Amino acid sequence: MEIGYDQKAPLLIQGALDSEINILLDALKPQRKETIGGFIFYECMLQEQPVVVSKTRIGEINSAIATTLAIAHYHPRMILNQGTAGALVDWLNTGDIVIGKRVCYMSQFSTDENRDADAINPWKTDAYRTLDGDTVTYHADQTLLENIRNACRKMNREVCFDVIASGDIWTKDPLQIHKHHQSYGVVCEAMECAGAYLAANSLGVPLISVRAISNNELKHQVYHESAGATAQQFVLELLPLL
Ligand code: 5AD
Repeated sequence: MEIGYDQKAPLLIQGALDSEINILLDALKPQRKETIGGFIFYECMLQEQPVVVSKTRIGEINSAIATTLAIAHYHPRMILNQGTAGALVDWLNTGDIVIGKRVCYMSQFSTDENRDADAINPWKTDAYRTLDGDTVTYHADQTLLENIRNACRKMNREVCFDVIASGDIWTKDPLQIHKHHQSYGVVCEAMECAGAYLAANSLGVPLISVRAISNNELKHQVYHESAGATAQQFVLELLPLL
């Protein structure tokens, strides 16, 4: 076990949808279900380790609230923000696992002054930049990142450590997808990572995003709910090694 984490505090695992937590619940057999502020938490044990599974629901605001409530109530020692994501590059396919070294927040932007209906298009100008001109980026906890790298080596598992885009948006236009990738180096897109990071960083809890690719618009791979299961199976393999 790594030094620096309180081993008695639970590990928090998040998923937005039922299809992103169902396998965890089957495997971890919750002892209690708790509803706090409308958000559901399942209290489980894995060997001697308390684990809380949280259904965040979709989107950045939901995930920020669910993460804040979880931290205030459970004081977790670390958070795995897991689920699905869409690929933004042609070399990622449905079922691939991406671990976020960084997360780029993409729902904070200003638009052009165009007068056409397409003006509300974040990719035309200042996507990801605040009015101050900064890119909003969250960095994974370095100890957690290293632990996961080591665990993946032990599992003999090929995963991609890279940059995840996160915002309340689902990008389908291939030109926008390319621009995303070229401008910010992001390789996949999800909707809950930034909100979870904002809360966890503010409250000093290590967090990392683990995502299974569920679709690739560039390759006409449509959304596959089964990617939710892939992410959970990966997390279940990872848990004993953290
Ligand atoms: N864009 C945005 N979110 C996606 N998700 C899967 N693929 C994408 C994508 N291409 C995830 C989000 C959200 C749900 C709709 O699926 O994180 O939880």
